[in-house]
Amino acid sequence: MLLSLNDVSFSYRTKYQTVNAVKNVSCEFEAGRLYAVVGKSGSGKTTLLSLMAGLARPDGGAISVDGKDLLSLDPDAYRRDTVSIIYQNFNLFPLLTVLENVMYPLGLNKTPKQEALKIAVEVIKKVGLDESYCKRLPSMLSGGEQQRVAIARALATGAQTILADEPTGNLDSENTENIIGLLTSLAHGENRCVIVVTHDQNVADAADTVYRMDSGRLTEEAREI
Ligand SMILES: Nc1ncnc2c1ncn2[C@@H]1O[C@H](COP(=O)(O)OP(=O)(O)OP(=O)(O)O)[C@@H](O)[C@H]1O
Ligand SMILES: [Mg+2]
Repeated sequence: MLLSLNDVSFSYRTKYQTVNAVKNVSCEFEAGRLYAVVGKSGSGKTTLLSLMAGLARPDGGAISVDGKDLLSLDPDAYRRDTVSIIYQNFNLFPLLTVLENVMYPLGLNKTPKQEALKIAVEVIKKVGLDESYCKRLPSMLSGGEQQRVAIARALATGAQTILADEPTGNLDSENTENIIGLLTSLAHGENRCVIVVTHDQNVADAADTVYRMDSGRLTEEAREI
């Protein structure tokens, strides 16, 4: 099993209140499959992704990656090499061009410049943008285009696990289909583990497994195939 969560809980604690965002979640994710996580706003989906990305530490339970406890791994190396995250609000670097945004993670893992350039141009094309976008700043792009740049950036390193938070939230149906095709081929063609938080029924329909979050708890949906 690539990624497994065993009785994981997480609460946001402030001076005034505690929000139990993820409650006793156990689930497993394999390579080569596309997973959808669905559920109402505030049900804990983004929090669950943050836990799997190593951005938050469980208060209870454990997450294991390839059989090793996530807490025993070097957090920087894990976030740099093993997982890629596509954030709900894209998180593009506003002062870097499209090309520089996509090349950024390759700089972190010390990919030689020329190779990084080649990979970046390749993944930018993969998400359906052409080379004319490379020199633009994120502020010069539509929401859907920014979203595709965020996806390209997440693909650049070839990470085994792709975590995506509403990757089709701002896209029209044609681009949604393209992104679904892309996510499916990453899972089925490149043997990656792709986990997508989504409100989009089309994305959920394309997934091999659908998990539903409800007030911090997770259940696997029975699927009719
Ligand atoms: N930084 C924070 N501090 C305190 N509470 C938070 C924080 N972030 C999220 N929460 C709370 O945790 C719960 C789960 O939030 P989360 O962002 O995981 O939901 P979500 O399922 O991703 O929702 P959405 O579909 O709107 O993105 C919510 O009740 C939310 O208000
Ligand atoms: Mg969210």
